[in-house]
Amino acid sequence: MLFYIPVLCLLISAAAFAQKKSIAARVDSLIKLMTLEEKIGQLNQYSGREVTGPATPRQTYMLNDIRSGKVGSMLNVHGVKDTREIQTAALQSRLKIPLLFAMDVIHGYRTVFPIPLAEAASWDLEAIQQASHIAATESAAAGLHWTFAPMVDISRDPRWGRIMEGAGEDVFLGSEIAKARVLGFQGDKLGENTESIMACAKHFAAYGAVTAGRDYNVVDMSNHTLWETYLPPFKAAADAGVATFMNSFSTVNGIPATGNRYLQRTILKGKWNYKGFVVSDWGSIKELVPWGYATDLKNAALKAITAGSDMDMESEAYKKHLADLIKEKKVNENLLNDAVSRILTKKFEMGLFDDPYRYCNEDIERRELNNPQHRQVARSMAQKSIVLLKNKNKILPLTPSTKTIAVIGPLVKSKRDLEGAWIPISDTTRVISLYDGLDSKISKETKLIYAKGCGINDSTADFSAAMDAAKNADVVIMALGESYSMSGESKSRTNIHLPGNQETLFEAVKATGKPVVVILMAGRPLIFNKIAEKADAIIYAWWLGAEAGNAIADVLFGDYNPSGKLPVTFPNSEGQLPISYIQYNTGKPSKGPNDIRYKSAYIDELNTPQYAFGYGLSYTSFSYSDLKLNRTNISGDEKLELSFTLTNTGERKGEEVVQLYIQDLVASVVRPLKELKGFQKIMLDSGQSKNIRFTIDRDMLSFYNEELQWTAEPGDFKIMIGAASDDIKLQTEIKLTR
Ligand code: BGC
Repeated sequence: MLFYIPVLCLLISAAAFAQKKSIAARVDSLIKLMTLEEKIGQLNQYSGREVTGPATPRQTYMLNDIRSGKVGSMLNVHGVKDTREIQTAALQSRLKIPLLFAMDVIHGYRTVFPIPLAEAASWDLEAIQQASHIAATESAAAGLHWTFAPMVDISRDPRWGRIMEGAGEDVFLGSEIAKARVLGFQGDKLGENTESIMACAKHFAAYGAVTAGRDYNVVDMSNHTLWETYLPPFKAAADAGVATFMNSFSTVNGIPATGNRYLQRTILKGKWNYKGFVVSDWGSIKELVPWGYATDLKNAALKAITAGSDMDMESEAYKKHLADLIKEKKVNENLLNDAVSRILTKKFEMGLFDDPYRYCNEDIERRELNNPQHRQVARSMAQKSIVLLKNKNKILPLTPSTKTIAVIGPLVKSKRDLEGAWIPISDTTRVISLYDGLDSKISKETKLIYAKGCGINDSTADFSAAMDAAKNADVVIMALGESYSMSGESKSRTNIHLPGNQETLFEAVKATGKPVVVILMAGRPLIFNKIAEKADAIIYAWWLGAEAGNAIADVLFGDYNPSGKLPVTFPNSEGQLPISYIQYNTGKPSKGPNDIRYKSAYIDELNTPQYAFGYGLSYTSFSYSDLKLNRTNISGDEKLELSFTLTNTGERKGEEVVQLYIQDLVASVVRPLKELKGFQKIMLDSGQSKNIRFTIDRDMLSFYNEELQWTAEPGDFKIMIGAASDDIKLQTEIKLTR
């Protein structure tokens, strides 16, 4: 039997090779049959909001282009009926090349999951992968082939509304989540089944660092920071086989990303040898003109194709000008052939040439869009995304015998806000509000008294009904936060305090003397200093999607023990922004608030945040002890084993995210005080202990040196194990000798 295994492996890899070869061969022969216009057509992507339904001039225009082979992909056409109809139009073209249907499925298609930033708070890679897989299954069932997700932009500035779409501030966590999401959307092998779709790593690159947190603004940073902080999640996505990349609306060091040869050709298609294709962001090719980077649309087309942007989303720059640019010999036709071949390869891999209607099955659509299991997974994902920020005197979980609960705030009965920004179809009939969740959880003996108190962003101050409700209750639950339109694309804010009068409402309610539990719902880290100081308990619930109300009620009553940890730093004030746990000692380190004279500190603000990266409480407690190393020195490619004991010292079963941080004490480039290099999420019964192990290798001690080479320098390293970036429990030092 053993003898056959290598033979079998050989046969399998030969089959995989033959299939690959046959796709490459099929792409080559197809390209040979294509006219210049047909090739350019493959690079053209339209948004199809109006492509079905009553005829409009735009619809006629797009349909004519589709029928004559001048379109390669559509976005925003979804649902089997519509995708079938439009695919049929594409099959009327001379070469019958099928279209790719794409959409922004960012956190669920039919079943709305928590926003991506919330899911990142779970630090649960398996759960995140499963959530993406369900989004893919529903999308594929609705005729889609491709989602414009995951967004893998690191962001350290919550003024930027798009922080909600990513995995937060950290390179390591962000890269792990990027991989999990790509695998979730795509499965192990593209096109292997009709439950997976193509993913898209966006926005290449560094879009999360827009200056002053203002969307679409310039990005200016050293190449060192680009390589060390902003590129790794993209590399992780590429290594995980992501089918496509999207560039961005910003510049990177003076060159718009869409026209950026260094990013797209030198790094992505060069150093990384990436074989998928790059789609522009919406209209970002034509935006090269207002940027002052191209004289007109034709010049923009020239710069974008030269820089490596393969597909043109909604600029029509290639459609209108690429043929002339090639005839005028300003663009080499090989660049076009390369872009077309990348796009056709994905269509072959998705099985669309074998069956253009492969993802058009009404029965599957009906079944998957009403699959009750998806809601269960959404509930579990929402539970895991919740972060318990404060729990004074263990006021939570609430006891089932609580008689009267006042539920106060503008988000108590809200449904649309809980879906958050970036959802394909809003259907509030499918959303469980906090009120609904509590109502179905409490016993018959418990009474809920509701008062809205104020709107999310209004300035009225009649809190009397809310105060009456509080006075008549044993405990108050407040639901405060942002509306769904306050975070997301083009939703930058300079003031990220809780909007409107909500914090004043909190103070009025708190003044009644009743215990107050505050649930905060938002698409970004907010600032809420008074609540942080005075609330009895605080739950950060982001925008948790369709099952939000159930998941929050599960946590409030202890049916789920919170396990989330912040994937992003919560500042004390906007003046600290941008902020992250990545901090440097500086030449004048401050020891704290009383040590600021000629120190790297503020005279009017702390250096420390309100809540640090990695922070989050549980209803149980954990102790860390007995740190051991199997050796203290390593050299070359040797590895070192670290172990410690984690014990659940509380009364409930619960999960802890143990975090491994490393500091290179002296290096040729100044290194941060700590960088996350590993984590594990561990479930322990009350009283249970477990031996936890991490392996430390050379790669984890490496960084980009002055020449941008990834290298580890001999010397001493501090190794820290923490429950949060500002809560280090165990530490030791090791040495790299060579
Ligand atoms: C966004 C992209 C999105 C695209 C298509 C753009 O405005 O920046 O993230 O994928 O629209 O909807």
